[in-house]
Amino acid sequence: MKIAIVGLGYVGLPLSLQFSRSGVAVLGLDIDPAKVAALNQGKSYIKHIESSAIAEAVKSRGFDASTDFARLREVEAVIICVPTPLNKNREPDISFIIETGKSIAPHLQKGMLVVLESTTYPGTTDEDLRAVLESGSGLKAGADFHLAFSPEREDPGNADSKVGIIPKVIGGYTPACLERAKAVYGRSIKTLVPVSSCRVAEATKLMENIFRSVNIALANELKLIYGAMGIDVWEVIQAAKTKPFGFMPFYPGPGLGGHCIPIDPFYLTWKAREYLQNTRFIELAGEINTAMPQHVVNRTAEALNARRKAMNGSRVLVVGLAYKPNVDDERESPSYVLMNLLKERGAEVAYHDPYVPVIRPTREHPQWTGVRSVTWDRGTLEGFDAAIISTNHQVVNYQELAEWCPCIVDTRNAMAAVKTKPAQIWKA
Ligand SMILES: NC(=O)c1ccc[n+]([C@@H]2O[C@H](COP(=O)([O-])OP(=O)(O)OC[C@H]3O[C@@H](n4cnc5c(N)ncnc54)[C@H](O)[C@@H]3O)[C@@H](O)[C@H]2O)c1
Repeated sequence: MKIAIVGLGYVGLPLSLQFSRSGVAVLGLDIDPAKVAALNQGKSYIKHIESSAIAEAVKSRGFDASTDFARLREVEAVIICVPTPLNKNREPDISFIIETGKSIAPHLQKGMLVVLESTTYPGTTDEDLRAVLESGSGLKAGADFHLAFSPEREDPGNADSKVGIIPKVIGGYTPACLERAKAVYGRSIKTLVPVSSCRVAEATKLMENIFRSVNIALANELKLIYGAMGIDVWEVIQAAKTKPFGFMPFYPGPGLGGHCIPIDPFYLTWKAREYLQNTRFIELAGEINTAMPQHVVNRTAEALNARRKAMNGSRVLVVGLAYKPNVDDERESPSYVLMNLLKERGAEVAYHDPYVPVIRPTREHPQWTGVRSVTWDRGTLEGFDAAIISTNHQVVNYQELAEWCPCIVDTRNAMAAVKTKPAQIWKA
């Protein structure tokens, strides 16, 4: 079997490697020639994916990458893993899916399977993607080619999260489409979870991510309420999670980050408007989570004030730029929002992140492009008035931070097990 995977990013690349390990030849397609060239040379551009795994797939497992969609004639199925961001008005931007559909359509052949994996609102596969595939190919979904949706459940940086053993939800445009998709994924994924339609599969992924967003918002709200009462929410969560049923821990933080949780809920709220449905819970969670960076900056101002310092002119170090621990992905990271807010208040801002040595150009935060992570040594760290722990990477030495930095604002409970001085730690 040979398949194509379009979009070789955080989702498409691990999926390609999983298929290729299972004996399926994979053609990786991407519009980024630099990524294609790196992959064909056996080089990874994602920290938690080993170059050796890619080199092995290229050398002996029939994996190769290309920008040429005409090569779709070589494959019997194509899986789409392209980005689904929000536009500047915070509405779904499915242009990457549509562009990919347009690139696939002229090369679509009878009997081929097309699966969308990108997170999106219910209806994208059987309305939007189907329309471009059908009009560009002259073929009919369900009759001439198969169409399905199967959401990715990648958890970057989690060593226990392996594509092959995570159950995979699949919905087909017709029952025959579902059977075809099951046959393809069944080659490589252990547990398949068939559902009755593409829309159910799309809605399942949104439910999973909205569940996280709402529960993180609840943890953030309780952090504020308990904080005002002098109760440490982290201690409360530790105790609550000993309950063997009916409770699942979620943790507060400096705000949401990454490509999924801050974005995906708004794919549903946007679509819900078409059906005149309100999405109060989801909007409220977004509101609470988005207010967190401001809370952290206010706490930092309080902490500095307690040391007779103004925010204006203080040197503040943000520790951790990636949006979660132990990964190098800083897309949508709340650390950027913190840095912007601190700068607006006149602070001199720097960051340290062992996984992000220099800030690459981003669409959202161009002003930070080229800024480098400061070195981790006593001389450098003693020069800061305060440090804010935004991401708790395991490799950071928090004991050294306690020894070198007089004032630490901790949004992740990273200092819990560290020996600190009185009034040095400000939880936020
Ligand atoms: N990153 C995650 O942890 C995660 C988890 C679950 C689901 N998802 C979802 O998976 C999808 C992909 O996310 P990602 O993190 O892998 O994105 P990514 O940005 O890492 O990778 C996307 C890739 O698609 C390529 N691309 C863009 N337009 C293209 C086109 N027209 N043709 C071919 N290639 C194109 C880009 O060059 C890039 O390499 C999104 O919908 C996301 O919400 C992501």
